[in-house]
Amino acid sequence: MMCSRNIKISVVLFLVLIPLITALPHNNHNLSKRSNFFDLECKGIFNKTMFFRLDRICEDCYQLFRETSIHRLCKKNCFDSKWFGECLKVLLIPSEEISKLQHFIKVINGSPISFPQSVPT
Ligand SMILES: *[C@@H]1O[C@H](CO)[C@@H](O)[C@H](O)[C@H]1NC(C)=O
Ligand SMILES: *[C@@H]1O[C@H](CO)[C@@H](O)[C@H](O)[C@H]1NC(C)=O
Repeated sequence: MMCSRNIKISVVLFLVLIPLITALPHNNHNLSKRSNFFDLECKGIFNKTMFFRLDRICEDCYQLFRETSIHRLCKKNCFDSKWFGECLKVLLIPSEEISKLQHFIKVINGSPISFPQSVPT
């Protein structure tokens, strides 16, 4: 009697949890997709190639830490934050690529970057 009751409870929990669990990554995905050029208050020129490359850095950085605040901080001020620089470091982005990304930020952001530069120019 007790046993079958527990099974029923488990089944109910299972049915409730499945949609919840499947909804979670989807929502996170939607959250990240939603941030765009205008949300980030970028004042430069919108170049899709450049923007998505920068966005990708923050995406990868977030995947590494699974921390929503990292995701948000990385994109802060239109990628012009020390967090973006930290993400480049932890993702082991090579210095040639960093110079390229710095150029991208300059174009997209419309102002010179201020994140710590490891590459002398
Ligand atoms: C995903 O984001 C879009 C754009 O903001 C929104 O219209 C849509 O309802 C969201 N979908 C879910 C499942 O949250
Ligand atoms: C965007 O940037 C890429 C990479 O630097 C460049 O090849 C492309 O011509 C640019 N597109 C526009 C529309 O400016």
